[in-house]
Amino acid sequence: MGRVLVMLTAAAAVVACSVATVMVRRRMKGRRKWRRVVGILKDLEEACETPLGRLRQMVDAIAVEMQAGLVSEGGSKLKMLLTFVDDLPNGSETGTYYALHLGGSYFRIIKVHLGGQRSSLEVQDVERHSIPTSLMNSTSEVLFDFLASSLQRFIEKEGNDFNLSQPVKRELAFTFSFPVKQTSISSGVLIKWTKGFAISEMAGEDIAECLQGALNKKGLDIRVAALVNDTVGALSFGHFHDPDTIAAVVFGTGSNACYLERTDAIIKCQNPRTTSGSMVVNMEWGNFWSSRLPRTSYDLELDAESMNSNDMGFEKMIGGMYLGDIVRRVILRMSLESDIFGPISSILSTPFVLRTNSVSAMHEDDTSELQEVARILKDLGVSEVPLKVRKLVVKICDIVTRRAARLAAAGIAGILKKVGRDGSGGGRRSDKQIMRRTVVAVEGGLYLNYRMFREYMDEALRDILGEDVAQHVVVKAMEDGSSIGSALLLASSQSVQTIPSV
Ligand code: BGC
Repeated sequence: MGRVLVMLTAAAAVVACSVATVMVRRRMKGRRKWRRVVGILKDLEEACETPLGRLRQMVDAIAVEMQAGLVSEGGSKLKMLLTFVDDLPNGSETGTYYALHLGGSYFRIIKVHLGGQRSSLEVQDVERHSIPTSLMNSTSEVLFDFLASSLQRFIEKEGNDFNLSQPVKRELAFTFSFPVKQTSISSGVLIKWTKGFAISEMAGEDIAECLQGALNKKGLDIRVAALVNDTVGALSFGHFHDPDTIAAVVFGTGSNACYLERTDAIIKCQNPRTTSGSMVVNMEWGNFWSSRLPRTSYDLELDAESMNSNDMGFEKMIGGMYLGDIVRRVILRMSLESDIFGPISSILSTPFVLRTNSVSAMHEDDTSELQEVARILKDLGVSEVPLKVRKLVVKICDIVTRRAARLAAAGIAGILKKVGRDGSGGGRRSDKQIMRRTVVAVEGGLYLNYRMFREYMDEALRDILGEDVAQHVVVKAMEDGSSIGSALLLASSQSVQTIPSV
């Protein structure tokens, strides 16, 4: 009996030992995997670092590239496009105007009424639609026919608001959020598509003419009287409300900036023919490039797999279209190198499946269990991950968004440096003592809807400029500024009003 007991006890001890060994091994394996994932996170964090010194180098590089782009065509990756806009709205405009805005993921139609005073600006109708993906890869005929039909429906809905005995000639501003080589304020040729658009047969076509042709085909009596980049629309809106506004930036699906430049500084333009002595320049800063940009292996992969590789390098680090995909690529790498995200999800392997609005929702998830993170991961085919893994995902969002926001701030500071408003005494004004109030209008969902992006950007701009200078610089959010501003610009460029005030 005693022997049996001893044997049983020994057997139980052996089993307990093996169980313990398995558990210890498992735990060690788990720890190894966790360490691997933490290593990936650490590498990401290091690669995305944007210390102040580096940001200041970016500021200098942007100002230098701006200068080079103004000297000669093709002198820089920054196209520094002429807009032929030399007078910005000031509040005295009158009349009723339309704007059709083709952005990166939405298009909008608006109608604004101007009564000759800032306070009498009335946005009478706004319609917003997402752009069907099929349209982004269609033909120019399909695209412009779609835009013309949408405008036709919009106008049919408004009825006869004007209540006129004579027929009304409507005037439209076309806010076109892609790079265009303008030939006048109302005409220009597409340079290239960005933001995932790839519509054939457009090279060399005049964008305003294409839209006008489609409107004529529908028998619509509307004149496309202005062709406006979205940044220029935002600047016009900003200037309408506040004459100290000298630059505008869009942080949306894509990113870009424009600013008011002295015509004598635009050396590549021999005869700018402006009355005000300045002209708005569309920088197309999405294409900015510097070897000092903190680029990671995820950026390289994203660029290589994109439709426009080796192009729009800056936009691919700061644009709303791309941030979600960078985060997705990091999560995918982690999930391939360890099983902390469970079995590899095929959804997670799909490019652009994680949108930046989901990144912001995860980043700003304030529930104690990070339920929003869990919900979004579930949509990506990753379910039931522990809290510590959810926290890791939040950290990834933070690193990617913080880098974007700080680079964006460096971009703004670069413009301020170029125009001598960064307090350095360089640029056009050498008097360091006199700091003029400077307003930068900002438009775009990334800035307007993503609080953490906004906070990181504002903070970095203050750090770069220093408190003394930063107190003179106002960054103003302008919702719908691009569309409304284009209509205002059209109004200010018209000497004869075609629609009487309502
Ligand atoms: C386009 C710019 C546009 C920006 C913001 C970029 O992809 O090239 O023209 O202003 O997106 O919409």
